[in-house]
Amino acid sequence: MSKPLRIAVAGLGTVGAGTLRLLQQHSALIAARAGRPIVVTAVSARERGRDRGVSLEGLHWYEDAVAMAAGADVDVVVELIGGSDGVAKAVCETAIAQGKHVVTANKALLAVHGADLARNAEERGLILAFEAAVAGGIPIIKALREGLAGNQVTRVYGILNGTCNYILTTMRETGREFAEVLAEAQALGYAEADPSFDVDGVDAAHKLAILTSVAFGCPVNFGAVYIEGIRRVSALDIQFAQELGYRIKLLGIARLTPDGVEQRVHPCMVPVSSPIAHVDGVFNAVVAEGDFVGRSVYEGRGAGAGPTASAVAADLVDIAAGRRGPTFGVPAAALKNLPLLPMERHRGAYYIRLMVLDRPGVFADIAAALRDERVSMEAVLQRGRAPGETVPVVMTVHDTDEAAMMRAIDRIGANEAIVEPPCIVRIEAL
Ligand SMILES: NC(=O)c1ccc[n+]([C@@H]2O[C@H](COP(=O)([O-])OP(=O)(O)OC[C@H]3O[C@@H](n4cnc5c(N)ncnc54)[C@H](OP(=O)(O)O)[C@@H]3O)[C@@H](O)[C@H]2O)c1
Repeated sequence: MSKPLRIAVAGLGTVGAGTLRLLQQHSALIAARAGRPIVVTAVSARERGRDRGVSLEGLHWYEDAVAMAAGADVDVVVELIGGSDGVAKAVCETAIAQGKHVVTANKALLAVHGADLARNAEERGLILAFEAAVAGGIPIIKALREGLAGNQVTRVYGILNGTCNYILTTMRETGREFAEVLAEAQALGYAEADPSFDVDGVDAAHKLAILTSVAFGCPVNFGAVYIEGIRRVSALDIQFAQELGYRIKLLGIARLTPDGVEQRVHPCMVPVSSPIAHVDGVFNAVVAEGDFVGRSVYEGRGAGAGPTASAVAADLVDIAAGRRGPTFGVPAAALKNLPLLPMERHRGAYYIRLMVLDRPGVFADIAAALRDERVSMEAVLQRGRAPGETVPVVMTVHDTDEAAMMRAIDRIGANEAIVEPPCIVRIEAL
């Protein structure tokens, strides 16, 4: 058997320790598949004394992860620290500058600096691999880059954040409100103490920016993603969605249109009949649509030590076996700067919920605002009447331009009989 692939691991938290455990437990299996052993020889984290539930015996410990990336006598540096800048970026840049391949699970880093890192790695004939950065254990990068290489992918979308999916699923199953379910998710360890990256859609947007690049062959551009999180989703809207035949999911959606690329993360109403409507709890799912293959659906665990380590190990096996391809499917220098479409250019159907003071003439005002923007109503739901009191009025509208929809909503929201800011949820045709 050929000489071992030597690796250094920076970061020994959930994913780092999980990766060490997997490589130890499956060393024989991995060596057989890779054609040579994969051995960890060096590690770095902040606290040397911390019990990580995995043996570090015989490994060279570095206090400084960047010094390890520079100095360790290894073939690959695995970056599992996290963060778009700072030490994680320095570790990756240093490793590449020193002629070492890089494997990372860091979506924040790739979403912001992915194109530059890929160019640097490719110029030096090195591999930058990141299967673990998107949808954890689901091998979606490999699927898009290799399995669907014969297709023009036209749309890729999915449930890319397990925390949000857990919260929305629990809200639907229990009828409870967002804040209460979030607090419970934090207590159970499904949500971070500071949940904003997850619930505000940033984490899903990082992953979507990476998927967009691999799917369409354009440079990663996180700044071009429209982002809206789930804080404003209410139990009432989830209930109305059910009545209308939908479920509410936080989706990341990237679409290649004749005018350019659309990238958006926001709560969506998806038909109950769509496969993605049934992906519940902490699970992730990604759907890719290609011109020859049609629709293909991938589902699995999007986070956690085991699933993420599984993806890191797959990248290491590829490197050990000598399998390599361009980072984002085409060489970084050949990524095309496709036009990026702003959210105002989006066209689709909408759900609108208004809390309306039940008095004569209000509905005529709402209808006039929609008519003036050429927004065509599909259905209206109003439960009972309560003259002089507030009642929810729910409408769905046919495909319309986002810009026109927002102008109509601004006008409707300014009506003094509408007592709360209007709630809108985009309806996704899947
Ligand atoms: N957790 C998941 O399920 C998951 C899934 C997909 C992708 N990811 C990505 O994987 C990466 C790691 O996530 P994680 O959940 O494993 O994080 P984590 O549990 O917080 O672990 C981070 C590790 O980095 C170490 N570290 C922090 N600052 C450091 C520094 N300056 N120098 C050296 N080491 C440093 C920490 O050291 P100490 O242990 O000594 O404090 C810790 O071992 C992130 O990019 C994350 O987005 C995570």
